[in-house]
Order: sequence, then C-alpha cells, then structure tokens
Amino acid sequence: FKFAENNFIMHFAEKYINLISESIEKYKFEETPFELYQPINYIIANGGKRLRPMLTLMAADAFGGDINTAIKPALAIEFFHNFTLIHDDIMDDAPLRRGKPTIHAIHGINTGILSGDALLIKSYQFFEDLEPVLFKKCIHLFSDTGAKICEGQQMDMNFEKRDDVSFDEYIQMITYKTGVLSAAALKIGAFIAECSEQDAEALYQFGIHLGIAFQMMDDYLDVFGNQGDFGKKQAGDICENKKTVLYLTALEKADEKQKKELQNWYSQKAESQEKIDAVSKIFLDTKADEITLKLVQEHHDKAQKYLNQTSLIAEKKESFLALADYLLKRNI
Ligand code: IPE
Ligand code: IPE
Ligand code: MG
Ligand code: MG
Ligand code: MG
Repeated sequence: FKFAENNFIMHFAEKYINLISESIEKYKFEETPFELYQPINYIIANGGKRLRPMLTLMAADAFGGDINTAIKPALAIEFFHNFTLIHDDIMDDAPLRRGKPTIHAIHGINTGILSGDALLIKSYQFFEDLEPVLFKKCIHLFSDTGAKICEGQQMDMNFEKRDDVSFDEYIQMITYKTGVLSAAALKIGAFIAECSEQDAEALYQFGIHLGIAFQMMDDYLDVFGNQGDFGKKQAGDICENKKTVLYLTALEKADEKQKKELQNWYSQKAESQEKIDAVSKIFLDTKADEITLKLVQEHHDKAQKYLNQTSLIAEKKESFLALADYLLKRNI
C-alpha cells in the first residue's frame, strides 16, 4: 500500500488509512463455512489502494460529518468493490490480483461466484446502523450504483466481440463499470455529513470524472505498467480483446496497414506473447500511449472543475486534488 510514499498525501490521509485498516481487521469475517469466508478475507487482506473508503471518509469529514458514522458505509463500499473484483476476475479470466493468485484460480469458479455473492450481501449489512432516512438514501444510491456496474460490466463483455465500438460507448461503459462507484463513495460520505444537494451532486460529478480518468489509467497500466507493481497479469486486456482507450485511440490514429493488423489480432482470443508484442507496438507507433495520458489529464481537469463548484474551503479541495493527482500518476 503506497499512499505513505507521498508525504503530502500522508499528512492528511493517515487518519483515514489507519481507521480503514483497523476497521477491516475488526470486521474480519469469522463465520463458517471456512471455505466460503476464507477467500473473502484473503482478497480483502491483500489490500489494494482502498481508494473508495478513503473517498467516503474524506467526503464525510470535509463537510463536517462524523468519520466514525461513515466508517461502516465506507467499508460497505470497499467490500462491494472487492465483490466486483472477484467476479470481474472470473469474467476476464485473470490469474493475478494485487500480486496474488485470484480466488477462482485457487479454488475454482464456483467458489469465486459464491464467495463474491456472500461479500455482496455482507456489504449491504454494513449500512444497518444508519438512521432510517439516511439509510434509505444510502441504500437507494448503493443499489442504483450496483445495477449500473453490472450494466457497465456487460457492455465491457459485449465490446470484446464487437469491432465497431465508438469512443462515446467506451466512455459510457467505463462511467458505469468504474466511475459510478467512486462517485457513490463520495456522495454517501456527503449524505452522512448532511451537506447540501448541490454540494453532494458536484462531488458526485467529481467522482465520475475521477473514475473515468482512473479507468483510463488502469487501461494504460494494463499494458505499460510493471506487473510487479501493478499486481495484475501484464496485457490481460490485449489477450481478452478489450476495447480499451489504448485500442480505440490506436485504431483511430492507425494507417490502413496498422488498422488491418490490429483488427486481425483482435479477431482471435490469444494469450501469445507475439500478439501482446505486436499490439503493444501498434499502440506505441500510433502514440496511443501518449494520447491516453492526455485524456487522463483532461478528465482530471473536468473532475477539478466540479470540485471547484462545491462550497468546500480551499484546503479541503486541495486534499481531494492531491489524492486525484496521486491516483493518476500511480503505478499500482
Ligand atoms: C480495480 O480497482 C478495478 C478498476 C476499477 C480499475 P483498483 O485499482 O482500485 O483496485 P485495488 O482495490 O486498489 O486493488
Ligand atoms: C473492472 O475493470 C471494473 C470492475 C471491477 C467493476 P477492469 O477489468 O479493467 O479491472 P481490473 O484491471 O481487472 O482491475
Ligand atoms: Mg478485470
Ligand atoms: Mg473487467
Ligand atoms: Mg483493467
């Protein structure tokens, strides 16, 4: 876990990071059967950045709410996120997550499905302590977000088999599969602090664009990151014919020969190093890598625009921006 590497971020993030890790330890799943809960504890203990619960606590705190009321909803979001990862890894045939073998790779697909389902249900239970009005608001947003994530994930799967995916469709897909959860994490924190509707909505839009930039960066790192740092199989998206920002940009910039070659590689599902090398080379030759990083910056700037629409004081805005800067320059 690398937030600690940046001293400035550490300065304001420490209390949130500590509260999140203590609480995760405290709410470890001790129930039986062991075979159902052990995989859940395994993926959660492997950590990850724990960005989304951070967002919930930061939002609650920034608007004057109590982070001790926000912690269980924050964990709900993180547990829900981990549920999506267990199922996503089955869908993407991914062998590695957070530098460790995926649950289905160790225990098989049936365990991945059921442990994922159990974690989804457990995540809802973490809202139970909220007062009725707040409870209803949070659960409504949470369920709506979950449905959108499923829609985004289905689009992602559908796009594997399509060769005419537009950039707008890609943005809609990543808004749903990734953007809405960081946005909801923030909005739930804002609800707990009982801030104004306008502030909650502006913060939500900040989260949407942060999530879009974050997913584009994830697409970039999938190919150009270092497997050791990133903790996932290198170029898994190329093997799976994912219509990522790199692919769509390369296709747009490619000459006829490159376009044919790229489409040819993407007409077959292949794990070969030859495919990975050839496709990566087209990404580089078309400057899809550089263009992707520019698009990341564009959505970062859009996010900042929404952040500026909130009534937060400058110091609080700086904290959110520092987190966004860190996330979009990350290598994990
Ligand atoms: C991975 O999310 C899934 C995406 C939306 C790209 P994270 O990159 O936040 O994963 P962890 O939780 O830090 O491992
Ligand atoms: C994942 O997108 C989005 C969700 C888990 C909902 P990816 O498939 O790109 O995420 P990683 O790269 O496996 O983490
Ligand atoms: Mg995946
Ligand atoms: Mg996926
Ligand atoms: Mg990815």
